[in-house]
Amino acid sequence: MITGVFGGTFDPPHIGHVAALKEFTARCGVERVLVIPTGVPPHKKAGMTADKDRLEMTKLAISDIPVAGVCDYEVKKGGKSYTVDTLQWLSEKLPNDTFVLYTGSDMFLSLHTWYNAEKILSLCSVAAFSRTGDDREALEKQAESLRERYGASVAVYDFSPTVVSSSEIRSMIDTGSDFYPFLPKSVSEYIEKNGLYGFEYYGYKKFLRERLSEKRFNHSLGVAKTARKLAEIYGADEKKAYLAGLLHDITKNLGPSEQIEFCIKHGIEMSADDIESPQVLHAVTGEWYLRKVIGITDEEVLSAARYHTTGRKGISLLEKIVYVADFTEPGRDYSDADYYRALSEKDLDRALFEGMRWIMEDKRRKGEKIHKDTVEMFVEYANKGYR
Ligand SMILES: [Fe+2]
Ligand SMILES: [Fe+2]
Repeated sequence: MITGVFGGTFDPPHIGHVAALKEFTARCGVERVLVIPTGVPPHKKAGMTADKDRLEMTKLAISDIPVAGVCDYEVKKGGKSYTVDTLQWLSEKLPNDTFVLYTGSDMFLSLHTWYNAEKILSLCSVAAFSRTGDDREALEKQAESLRERYGASVAVYDFSPTVVSSSEIRSMIDTGSDFYPFLPKSVSEYIEKNGLYGFEYYGYKKFLRERLSEKRFNHSLGVAKTARKLAEIYGADEKKAYLAGLLHDITKNLGPSEQIEFCIKHGIEMSADDIESPQVLHAVTGEWYLRKVIGITDEEVLSAARYHTTGRKGISLLEKIVYVADFTEPGRDYSDADYYRALSEKDLDRALFEGMRWIMEDKRRKGEKIHKDTVEMFVEYANKGYR
C-alpha cells in the first residue's frame, strides 16, 4: 500500500485543505491518506481549539473523500507533535506500507530545519505542493538540495493557490466577515452549533459591520475586547462585558438631530439634559434598540450600554468597565491613551474618575453642557475622596 500522510492543525479545516487533499490523492499515486491533526505543533503557538473539535471538523471536512481517513495519533499522544515520531510509529504499525508526506510550500522550504529531517526523509517520500504558484523555482531548488544532501525522494507539483488560511477564517468569524464560502458546509455548521471561534457574537458583528462606519465598527470590537479584559481583572462577568462593549454604540450611526427624531418616533423619553447634550442620546436610543429590536434581555448589559457616555451615581462594576473601555480601547490614540490604559488595569475607579474629570474639563473648555448623571457621579467620587 502507498499511504499518504497529510498533517495540519486544522483549526479549522477549510476548502483549501480539501482541495489540496483531493489533488494529493489524484496526482501522487497514493492509495489511501491518513489525515493527522497535530497535538501542540512545534511551529505554531499554543491556544488552539480543543482536540475533539478539530478532530470532528476534520472528519466532516474530508467525509466525501473515500480514500481519506482521520487518524488521532498525534492528538492522543499529546504534547508537541514531531513528524519524525509519527512516521516512525506509522512504519512500525504498517510495515508493508510506503509513505508519501504532503507538504505545502512553506513547510517544504523549511523541511531541512525540522527535527530529525534526515530520519524523516528516510521514512517517507515527500510531495511538495506549490502554494502561491510563483514559488516553483524555490521548491525545485529545495528538492534538489534535499536529494543531494539526504538522498531524499521528493517531487514538486504545481497547484492552484490556496485561497485562504485557517487564521484568516478565525479572523473573519471574529470580525463578522463572510467566512462561509471558505468552509465545507458541514464544518461551518459544526462551528455554529458549538460556538467555536467566538461564533456566538458573529450575528451581532455582521449586523454592526453593515450598520456602522468601519472606524466605529473597529472601535466596538476594541471596546468589547478591552471590556472583557477588564472584567477578567476585576471579577465581572466576561461575557456580559464583551457583549455590552460590542453593542454599546449600536445607534451611533445616527447624528444628533436624527437621535431626537428617533426618540420622538419611538416614544422614547428624553430628559432636558439629554436634549442639551445630544451626543449622549445615542446611549438612550442604543439601550432602546438593544431591548426592542435586538432582543437583549440582560438588564446589566442594557444598563452598561445605557450609561457608557455619562456614567451615573451608584455606577455598577459592569457599567464602569464599559465606560472605561470606551476611552481605553486599543484604537484610541489621544495623547494620554497609554496612561489611561495602564491605569485602567491597575485601578478601575481611579481610571474612571480621571477619565471623567478630563471629559468634564474638556466640555467646560468647549462651553458644552455636562450631563447631570456625570455631575452626580463626579460628586459621589469626590465625596469618597477622589481628587
Ligand atoms: Fe458611545
Ligand atoms: Fe464608544
